[in-house]
Amino acid sequence: LANAEFDIGDIPLGQGITVKWRGKPIFIRHRTPAEIERETAVNMNELRDAEPDAARAQQPEWLIIVGICTHLGCVPIANAGDYHGWFCPCHGSHYDVSGRIRKGPAPLNMEIPPYKFLTNTKVLIG
Ligand code: FES
Repeated sequence: LANAEFDIGDIPLGQGITVKWRGKPIFIRHRTPAEIERETAVNMNELRDAEPDAARAQQPEWLIIVGICTHLGCVPIANAGDYHGWFCPCHGSHYDVSGRIRKGPAPLNMEIPPYKFLTNTKVLIG
């Protein structure tokens, strides 16, 4: 499928789900106000692949990323690592709650797939 619709209305605040799109895991995370505040406050100088949080989420409460580590392609584990986001167990890359690489060998932030919101609770990926 080139694109796929997902219902996100049941994802509790502070939690996420993994869906499949074009054979890839996509992480959809319902971010809390505290998480959004923390990620938007990050200084760009601290980032290896400098991207402001606002450039990574069309709606701040929803982070939608391709769940593939940019080092060698493992699938990172949610709610783990030193930056509260994801931890890749293969070689130890730590990602924040914006999916940005913060520590470890991965060179880039996790990718953002093309998507748009159809309603407040439905997103079209692709
Ligand atoms: Fe994720 Fe190497 S594949 S750290």
